[in-house]
Amino acid sequence: MSIQTPHNTLLIPGPIEFDDAVLQSMSHYAESHVAPGFVKVFGETLTLVRKVFQSTNPAAQPFIIAGSGTLGWDLVSANLIERGENALVLNTGYFGDSFGQCLETYGANVTHLKAPIGDRSSLEEVEQALKEKSYKVITLTHVDTSTGVLSDVKGVAQLVRRVSPETLVVVDGVCSVGSEEIAFDEWDLDAVLTASQKAIGCPPGLSIVMTSGRAIQAAQSRKTPPSSYYASIANWLPIMKNYENNKASYFATPPTQLVHALHTTLTQITVDVPARFAIHAKVSDKVKAAVAELGLKQVASRPECQAHGMTAIYLPEGLVPADVLPGLLKRGVIFAAGLHKEIATKYIRFGHMGVSVTDPKRGDIDNALTALKEALTEAKQAKGL
Ligand SMILES: Cc1ncc(COP(=O)(O)O)c(C=O)c1O
Repeated sequence: MSIQTPHNTLLIPGPIEFDDAVLQSMSHYAESHVAPGFVKVFGETLTLVRKVFQSTNPAAQPFIIAGSGTLGWDLVSANLIERGENALVLNTGYFGDSFGQCLETYGANVTHLKAPIGDRSSLEEVEQALKEKSYKVITLTHVDTSTGVLSDVKGVAQLVRRVSPETLVVVDGVCSVGSEEIAFDEWDLDAVLTASQKAIGCPPGLSIVMTSGRAIQAAQSRKTPPSSYYASIANWLPIMKNYENNKASYFATPPTQLVHALHTTLTQITVDVPARFAIHAKVSDKVKAAVAELGLKQVASRPECQAHGMTAIYLPEGLVPADVLPGLLKRGVIFAAGLHKEIATKYIRFGHMGVSVTDPKRGDIDNALTALKEALTEAKQAKGL
């Protein structure tokens, strides 16, 4: 029996349902952020982040900072690029647009390589773009939450190392870390930013960023100071190093209860990281097969471009999200409406990440698929379709 008040099942692409143990660990008594008990937990949590990224390179550095996923964009933009330098954004939806805006806020010269809706740019197109200009940073959204498009992070990183080895490879992993494979060292990535509330399975409020030695070097050898105070790598680096070395340290107060929750969920995830990716792939295949069976198309058009932690589903002609979402809710299931500006009224989004996927006893996925089928039938009847 769950300790949680009975509630509708949250199956949006983040935040997601919580495991009881994760929630319980947040009701920790008050403690000082510099007390030995908390220092140990924070230090271990940083080490667990390395494991999620399958990273053993001591030059790589994880950061856990109070904030949401967006803070990761600020951290990248304020430290890894300087005013007037070029950034190439591989844009697969809404979150590519926003990351670009954040980079521009800090004075970067941003070029978007925009893929058609539901697709990603080919490696040939990326290569062509990289040859046209010299880029300090290339960014890609591993899973764009507005489209469910999965990017080829490994392929792009390999390409960058071949064609433009100095360019820093930055991945927005807000909707992928914890559900999609990431081999940080092996793929030679420079920064992956994420947040606590999606496939990591923790309440919202933590920005988690993994950086390479090369990224840290770039931050340390800037010609100008970092253009943010709170998001300054120079300010956070010693803090993170100290905590991981079991030494108390202070720059800004960490959200102690959230760190406990993160520790709990990362301990669960890192029992078997490859198994975590495999179960998300398996359940995703099942969802996508069921969606096809209902005669529905996905926004992410090609199987290799489809995320494993969410599915963006086009509604039948004549239906809008407001016709279907209430029917799902009536059946205890919460999906999200469309987000991509150009197609928002045409599709809905189903998040299948974390405990809803890893704990089949909950029945969340089967219930959602049944609810989807019934809600669609009801909506079509209501519209005389
Ligand atoms: C891919 C992606 N990047 C960035 C963000 C921003 O994260 P947050 O809302 O936690 O600030 C989101 C939020 O959903 C996202 O899905």
